[in-house]
Amino acid sequence: MYTTKKKTCIWKLVALLLFLDGVGMALSAEVDVETRPPNVVLFIMDDVGMGDIGCFGNHTIKTPNIDGLARDGARLTQHMAFSMCTPSRAALMTGRLPVRYGFGSKHPMRVFMFSSSHGGLPSNETTIAELLKGSGYATALIGKWHLGISCKENNSCSDPNSQGFDYFFGLPVTNFRDCGTDNIIPVLWGMSKKVTLSEMLTNLAIACVFAFLLAGTKLIGLRGFIFFMVVALAGNILLACRDDIRSNCVLMENHSIVEQPLLLNEHLTERLHSRAIQFVEQNQNQPFLLVMSFVQAHTALFNNKEFRNHSVHGYYGDNIEEMDWSVGEVLKSLKRLGLEEKTFVYLTSDNGGHVEEFTDAGERQGGWNGVYKGGKTNTWEGGIRVPAIVKYPGHIPLDTVVSQPTHLPDVLPTVARVTGAQLPDDRVYDGRDMMPLLTHADHAEKQEILHEFMFHYCGGFLNAARYTPQNGDTTYKLHYASSHLVPGIHGVMGCFDVFACECEGNSVDRHDPPLVYDLSSDPSEVNPLDSNDPKVKIVIRKVNEAVATHRKSLPRNTDHQFTGSNLMSRPWERPRCGRFPHFTCTDPYLDQLKKLNGEI
Ligand SMILES: *[C@@H]1O[C@H](CO)[C@@H](O)[C@H](O)[C@H]1NC(C)=O
Ligand SMILES: *[C@@H]1O[C@H](CO)[C@@H](O)[C@H](O)[C@H]1NC(C)=O
Repeated sequence: MYTTKKKTCIWKLVALLLFLDGVGMALSAEVDVETRPPNVVLFIMDDVGMGDIGCFGNHTIKTPNIDGLARDGARLTQHMAFSMCTPSRAALMTGRLPVRYGFGSKHPMRVFMFSSSHGGLPSNETTIAELLKGSGYATALIGKWHLGISCKENNSCSDPNSQGFDYFFGLPVTNFRDCGTDNIIPVLWGMSKKVTLSEMLTNLAIACVFAFLLAGTKLIGLRGFIFFMVVALAGNILLACRDDIRSNCVLMENHSIVEQPLLLNEHLTERLHSRAIQFVEQNQNQPFLLVMSFVQAHTALFNNKEFRNHSVHGYYGDNIEEMDWSVGEVLKSLKRLGLEEKTFVYLTSDNGGHVEEFTDAGERQGGWNGVYKGGKTNTWEGGIRVPAIVKYPGHIPLDTVVSQPTHLPDVLPTVARVTGAQLPDDRVYDGRDMMPLLTHADHAEKQEILHEFMFHYCGGFLNAARYTPQNGDTTYKLHYASSHLVPGIHGVMGCFDVFACECEGNSVDRHDPPLVYDLSSDPSEVNPLDSNDPKVKIVIRKVNEAVATHRKSLPRNTDHQFTGSNLMSRPWERPRCGRFPHFTCTDPYLDQLKKLNGEI
């Protein structure tokens, strides 16, 4: 395969030598292109489950572009993430488990909530972008970041630009329900998009005057006056909190806010991938890393007009199908520029589908995890097994399946291998190079098991682990603790009592001895094996030993990033755009796009 490719390359060179005057130049350009390391494109979907994608067995959703990617490469059917976005994305960016750098939260809060929160990815972690920048890559992150954007005193910042990305366009935190036009908290009747400090002060002043007048007319006494003021104040605090969640609903370009509030339904998907395509075009003559981190299909759901009622699976399905279109647009641009053969492409989701997401009317708005139990926020398979595809033309055979366990931290070492970048050797990597598996995906049974053991954290708690014996074809999964699932809307099982599952505490069942499942025969985790069976006892002993060894590899002291004081909102530190009192601005590209589409 490679020799024929080389031969055609030589013929091309000869042709060039014969036909071109600027022979020297043509030669060097050709050689350059051939030896240039591949481009890297990483697609990260948000909250998309194993059951949401066509090529993972969903025959009624339309994801032709993602399915095409799978036909051109390998589908990973046991690719493991973490149960929430922030730790999962951190693991993907660093190749290391979140607990190694303070991303394993021991609190119920396991993600950053506000654009003004402190904490974030420590600057001494080497991200995939920093790694490739070191090899001369142009780097861009388009879409959601969610790894913190604050700076500490000593200029150690966590924002994308400080973590190796030359260009960032997207959401600093994440999409929230509150960013949408649905689901407006009823307390805030009449309140439109946003509340500013001046509006709050005005509210308070009006309430004050009103109460004063009432008190003056003796309709209410002093107590009534105080009561009135307390209610007004509480109302304003509520508004402020809500406004703070909404303060995440912004678009940033590098360090500046370019859109506030976020206009989800106004071509957002297209605006994001247009930026991605622009970046690819601008850097087509040098190696680049593009991380396309989708805002879909997290709530608030949103769609461009053309994708409303596009799917047979309601609003959620429409979101998946629009995102698939977006994947296709980026892939098309690679093809158009002749870069397809020189690009390593990976696609995954940050965690499983969020099964507790329903509207008040009972419409499901979260992802679907197929046969897998649980979902986002817990360590049942549905929460952490995610769809994944890798395409690398000429290296990974077409339309193959890799079924042994791999996980998100494997991406960085794999990318290091294909690009020739050097991994730092001063730290523990939990990820491993997947290329040996991927290149031989068509006879995978002979492959070495990459991860004999894998540890599944829920926040900072090691609640489960999996074990795939080297010469076996079985994967065991052990639960030391598991989220207690209860039936919710339409009988769906989830953490409906708490909305997001906890990692410890009353809603978690502890298991001693651990619950053991044989995932090969019981992927849905319904029939635990008998823990008194001598074979099962051996499995438990081996995993316990591996857990103990793993724990020894963890740093004793890490700076915890999710402390209360880090996470709290600091309205005065919120990034803003525009002027007092409204602080609004709109992506200038939106106008262009609307004109182009004849909408204005
Ligand atoms: C396909 O995906 C949709 C959207 O999540 C879901 O409602 C449906 O149940 C899935 N179908 C299958 C067979 O998994
Ligand atoms: C990063 O810095 C922290 C705090 O000084 C330290 O504990 C940690 O080991 C460092 N991490 C790496 C990968 O060097």
